[in-house]
Amino acid sequence: MSTQALFPTLVYQGRLRLRGWRRLNARLLRECRQLRADDAAGRRWSARNYPGGYTSYNSAHRMHRQSPTFASLARELDRHVAAFARRLQLDLTARALAMTDCWVNVMGRGAVHGLHLHPLSTISGTYYVAVPAGSPGLKFEDPRLERFMASPPRLRGARRANRPWVTLSARAGQVVLFESWLRHEVSPNAVSAERVSVSFNYSWF
Ligand code: NI
Repeated sequence: MSTQALFPTLVYQGRLRLRGWRRLNARLLRECRQLRADDAAGRRWSARNYPGGYTSYNSAHRMHRQSPTFASLARELDRHVAAFARRLQLDLTARALAMTDCWVNVMGRGAVHGLHLHPLSTISGTYYVAVPAGSPGLKFEDPRLERFMASPPRLRGARRANRPWVTLSARAGQVVLFESWLRHEVSPNAVSAERVSVSFNYSWF
């Protein structure tokens, strides 16, 4: 008897291998906060769509083109995305994967990011700049969930691979990558310290 895991959903976790990542991280944190101070349109959009937080998703979403600091981060992320693409065995001989969007998220207490996916993208991910103790990780949902018509619940101690939701904890300096169709969310930030991350999309068209 044997069982096989077919059609797996891969999620990538890595750390910046740059020796000076703490310095880069400190610069990113300063620039994220400066951007929030400068970006009145983004603050207005966030007040309506991202209560308790600030995101530049709708106002400054090409930070890798605007800031040398974010461009440095993007070069590091390129390596991680290439490694993930190899693991996924994507055939990229005809076209390369390239970063299309890169934006800032600052979550204060109570800020939440509901379930979503990233349309029009291939690989998406997040780099964690500041993750205070007690702030949430990244929760992924089984992409087959809507097909689980008569599927029993899973055992309490079920392996991660068999659970319908899995939350990966976040750490500063860490990169998380996933295919852009995979739905994910960030639960409410329960602490007053700000959780700061940089999210991004890669596309091959
Ligand atoms: Ni997302």
